[in-house]
Amino acid sequence: MAEIVAIDGPAGSGKSSVSKEVARRLGFGYLDTGAAYRALSWAVAEGHVAKPEAADETFDGFDYEISLNPDDFWVKSYGVDITNAIRLPKIAESVSAVAGVPAVRRFMKKLTRDLVSQSELGGVVVEGRDITTVVAPDAPVRLLLTASEEVRLERRAKELSPEDLATLRQQVLERDKSDSKVVDFMKPADGVDLVDTTNLDFEQSVQAVLSIIREQL
Ligand code: DC
Repeated sequence: MAEIVAIDGPAGSGKSSVSKEVARRLGFGYLDTGAAYRALSWAVAEGHVAKPEAADETFDGFDYEISLNPDDFWVKSYGVDITNAIRLPKIAESVSAVAGVPAVRRFMKKLTRDLVSQSELGGVVVEGRDITTVVAPDAPVRLLLTASEEVRLERRAKELSPEDLATLRQQVLERDKSDSKVVDFMKPADGVDLVDTTNLDFEQSVQAVLSIIREQL
């Protein structure tokens, strides 16, 4: 199985862009685990999958494919390229509820581990909310990327320029609040290294993560 570099953190911590760049520089794969939660929300909205509720749900029929190539990222489900569709606000609004269902989380843990083991890559940077604690607590490198609330909101505002900042603030903070009821991604678990990117630019954040990986791998 590929070596896992596990990276958790909240929205706007720089987690996705930093993880992708780190994967590129190491020649590793990159796995965005939030994409699967978003894709499942999309599949529920499109009527491909019943709304997850039952504790014994298995999601056997969930049709999901994701690229682990940091230079060619795509997500497909039921023959549809949903790379962009899963970033729409309506998915962001419904995804926390789906991610809060315990059966969904069990399914996602297995899906993530299967995607890594089937990849035939030497290493994969896996980013999410519960990778360091639940999905890969045994990973040789485990990091939590954080940044102050102000900086996280500013970064998100730059990504989604036309958004009204007040709505954005409400959406991001509410999603973090609801997601953190399920898993704690604000404080590092035992043995997890903390990288605070509040005062770091992109390149400095990448270097901080790379130096921890080089120390530990
Ligand atoms: O990272 P993201 O915004 O694409 O994640 C989408 C949602 O999925 C987010 O609301 C929290 C959830 N998620 C999770 O619960 N565990 C993960 N490992 C990844 C994402």
